[in-house]
Amino acid sequence: MNRKPTFPALVVVAALGLALAAAGCGGAEPQTQITYPEGYRNWAHVKSMVIHDPAHPLYEAFGGIHHVYVNPRGAETLRRGSGTYPDGSVFVFDLLEANLDGGAYVEGDRKVLAMMVKNAGRYGSTGGWGFEAFAGGDPAQRVVVDAAKDCFNCHAPQQATDYVFSGWRK
Ligand code: HEC
Repeated sequence: MNRKPTFPALVVVAALGLALAAAGCGGAEPQTQITYPEGYRNWAHVKSMVIHDPAHPLYEAFGGIHHVYVNPRGAETLRRGSGTYPDGSVFVFDLLEANLDGGAYVEGDRKVLAMMVKNAGRYGSTGGWGFEAFAGGDPAQRVVVDAAKDCFNCHAPQQATDYVFSGWRK
């Protein structure tokens, strides 16, 4: 009799599963601890780029005009051009549509807001950076499923600059 697991037992098993998932055990870690970068428009603007040619290798993912920002904590290392970013450093990659308007590319709607946040202990498997992206810049619409596959693998060759592509121009 009573071979079926009781209701409380099922709840315990389910809760354990959730806890393991949250701890990142047994698979890709959803980087939900990453919070939307409020106020990033007041950070230092690092650079911008327009990718408009469908033949460009990054067009599929990054077609449009993007601006890169760094928070004050990350700015010093970026300006120095070498070294490891301290925990709490954040980069934002703000991608907008680029609309051709009478010979000029003008900013359109936001396509995605991507970000990297440094926490060497928490994100050791992805170079110490947590990766997240928000569709349309909406804090409720998280995009990244597997930070290594979706993001880090492409940033990995930039190891010499702590996995950051952007440099600080004069
Ligand atoms: C196919 C390669 C590729 C993939 C995949 C990729 N990135 Fe990048 N990322 C780049 C390149 C190239 C730049 C530099 C762009 C520039 O110079 O303006 C960049 C820049 C950035 C920056 C600004 C800091 C820096 O390194 O210059 C952030 C933040 C960023 N990416 C986040 C992400 C996130 C989050 C993902 C996953 C959703 C992702 N990236 C996936 C290639 C990639």
